[in-house]
Amino acid sequence: MDVIALDDPTEAQIREWHDVVAAVHAGDPAGDPAPDLERTARGLLGAEPGARRRLWAASDGARLLAVAALRLPGEPGADRPAEIDIQVRPDHRRRGLGGRLLAVAAEGLRADGRSSVIAQVLAGTPAVPFLESHGFECVLTLRGMLLRLDDVPAERVARLLAEAPAGYRLVRWRGVVPDELAAALARAKHAMADFSEYEGTLWDALRVREMAEIVAKRGDDLYTVAALSGAAIAGFTEVVVPSGCAGRAAQYDTAVVPEHRGRRLGILVKAEMLRWLAEERPEVREIETDNSGDNDHMLAVNEELGFRVERESLEYQAATGALPASGA
Ligand SMILES: CC(C)(COP(=O)(O)OP(=O)(O)OC[C@H]1O[C@@H](n2cnc3c(N)ncnc32)[C@H](O)[C@@H]1OP(=O)(O)O)[C@@H](O)C(=O)NCCC(=O)NCCS
Repeated sequence: MDVIALDDPTEAQIREWHDVVAAVHAGDPAGDPAPDLERTARGLLGAEPGARRRLWAASDGARLLAVAALRLPGEPGADRPAEIDIQVRPDHRRRGLGGRLLAVAAEGLRADGRSSVIAQVLAGTPAVPFLESHGFECVLTLRGMLLRLDDVPAERVARLLAEAPAGYRLVRWRGVVPDELAAALARAKHAMADFSEYEGTLWDALRVREMAEIVAKRGDDLYTVAALSGAAIAGFTEVVVPSGCAGRAAQYDTAVVPEHRGRRLGILVKAEMLRWLAEERPEVREIETDNSGDNDHMLAVNEELGFRVERESLEYQAATGALPASGA
């Protein structure tokens, strides 16, 4: 069994990679729509602005048995953690393949001067004992929630919009934030800092645009609704509709800045988003979201809208120094 670097994968290698991803999906059905080849290809090839990607695979000479992708946001040596994703074919587990790929990726982390790495995994899956046996610690619990739009009567949305507090104006845009709102959006994103401290990076207008460009590069559509108080963004919500959507969109960030909290702006911007999506993207039937397990307020907003808890994911983090060395 060989471990190979696939930093510039060929079309055939992308197909083989996708076979592994599809086998893992079939073996651990989490209810997610099945991955499609085009999406896998974009994820492997797309030179994402602001981040680099390194790829490795374990092969038996005939086919790939396991794959590992490391995402390196920012410049080499940046303070932000890298992100790792390892997938091993269900019929080749517990043979050390995951561990071998992790050790090789750890070399990649060291070469990049990265001090830590994170992985997001589902609670109750083999990924948990795997990561815990390799120096990772759980830093965040996320509740995966799903909103089925058929369960949200249009009257509920209309009522929430009618209850909008005075003094705010709703605006919306698709894709990258308009220039005149970029700095205001970056300031509003700071309001989320308390839920994402581990990211260790502050939002600025550049990073806000970078995030929207990453989404566009994948071929996905980013929708944003914001409540303005004067020229400032008091609260906002983002939803991404993936290309080839399969009916499910993803909730991205939602935040209300501290001085505007307690006025139901979170639920207002989300209600406006539902109205907009119903007009603009009627094929969207479900929206999924992850909420920090200790973010009671956002959980309550989502439950009021009709989101239901589907599963729990965990964010694990390890210091590069705690990871196994390659060849060990
Ligand atoms: C998590 C995953 C990558 C592990 O791959 P693997 O090749 O089976 O892992 P290894 O054989 O290297 O396991 C190393 C150690 O991890 C622990 N471990 C791995 N799977 C385990 C399980 N199902 N139960 C208990 N411990 C487990 C054990 O300590 C194991 O050592 P041992 O076999 O000597 O007891 C694999 O199960 C997988 O692809 N899961 C689905 C995708 C996923 O969730 N990826 C995680 C993202 S990082």
